[in-house]
Amino acid sequence: MSDEIIVPKGLANVVVDSTSIATTGASGNLLYRGYRAVELAEKKTFEETAYLIVNGKLPDKEELSRFRNELFSNMKVSKEVLDIMKIIKEHDIMRNIRSMVSLYPYAKGNDQSLFTQMEAKLPLLSAYSASAFLGTPVKEPTGEGFSQKFFSLISNGNSKNWRSFEKLMILYLEHEFNASTFALRVSASTLTDPVSAVTSALATLKGPLHGGANSEVLTYLGSIENEADAKKFIEGKLERKEKIMGFGHRVYKKKDPRAQFVREELGRIAPKDPKYVAAEMVENYMFEKKGLPANVDLYAAVLMDYLGINEMFYLPVFACSRIFGWNAHYFEQLKDNKIIRPASSYSGPEERGL
Ligand code: ACO
Repeated sequence: MSDEIIVPKGLANVVVDSTSIATTGASGNLLYRGYRAVELAEKKTFEETAYLIVNGKLPDKEELSRFRNELFSNMKVSKEVLDIMKIIKEHDIMRNIRSMVSLYPYAKGNDQSLFTQMEAKLPLLSAYSASAFLGTPVKEPTGEGFSQKFFSLISNGNSKNWRSFEKLMILYLEHEFNASTFALRVSASTLTDPVSAVTSALATLKGPLHGGANSEVLTYLGSIENEADAKKFIEGKLERKEKIMGFGHRVYKKKDPRAQFVREELGRIAPKDPKYVAAEMVENYMFEKKGLPANVDLYAAVLMDYLGINEMFYLPVFACSRIFGWNAHYFEQLKDNKIIRPASSYSGPEERGL
């Protein structure tokens, strides 16, 4: 076909559509609706920032109160759902929440309210599926805000540190056309329902090259005690041409502003934490050796470990935040929709007879 356009593999640097929700910006700063994500993390609450992502503006007092009430009144799951989780009894929480979300009853109607319900229930589904697996009692969420309530369900650490968790949740909220959001937009472009679109996104987020990286980071950091260990680890991985989780990014080639923010947060609250010290050594040597910056997942894993959050929750934490970004993208896609259906070049056999 003469009008074919051949694009780089993985669509690297290909602009496929426009979005007004977030950008990594010409300056390399991640902006949510024009505001720097790291500044929002420092100065705003999770609900204020989630409202901004979904609605395009920061909320006034009344809007915020309505938004919070809608979320909190839906923060419950039925006994039947708890029973199903006990039957599934699966360690991989991401698999559980993806499956439970896909079962969510969908009737054509108020799609925004459906998103609110999924957003409100996802933290509970995460925490309660872990309880079902571990045989521990389910807890009622406590605390005032969305992330504080979620923190109360999944952390065994010092509850005074919940605000550091909230900052991380804010930084995970949105990231323009990342893989899971793009999967959601492809689904939305077929005019499928929000539940199905979020199921696509959850399935895509799960992969180790995307959200799954954060749970793999701790495994290697635990074995690094000094600079010699860090060098040996990196050199071994590079020689074997293996990817090191928590490094590299499709968009951030010099620095991931979220990684630097979480690194500084850790430097403030846990400067002597052995995994933090190990992460810094690995980051410094990786940059020296390969020029690759750490991505947010390197320090997110260290932060969640320090906050007493079990590794089984790392990816669900990402999902419970990013679903608000998916919400905004679902409706943005529908506003000016064209089905996303690329072409392919064929590499199979020529037409042949049987
Ligand atoms: N470890 C070792 N080498 C790496 C890594 C890594 N983590 N990331 C990139 N590289 C190398 C590549 O091998 C390649 O080297 P080469 O030029 O010598 O062949 C070069 O850096 C460019 O990398 P690409 O693979 O082309 O980068 P791409 O944009 O396609 O991939 C990705 C980005 C998937 C994030 C990649 O860096 C990676 O696999 N990282 C590890 C997984 C990870 O941490 N994912 C989390 C991403 S952030 C998030 O989802 C919140």
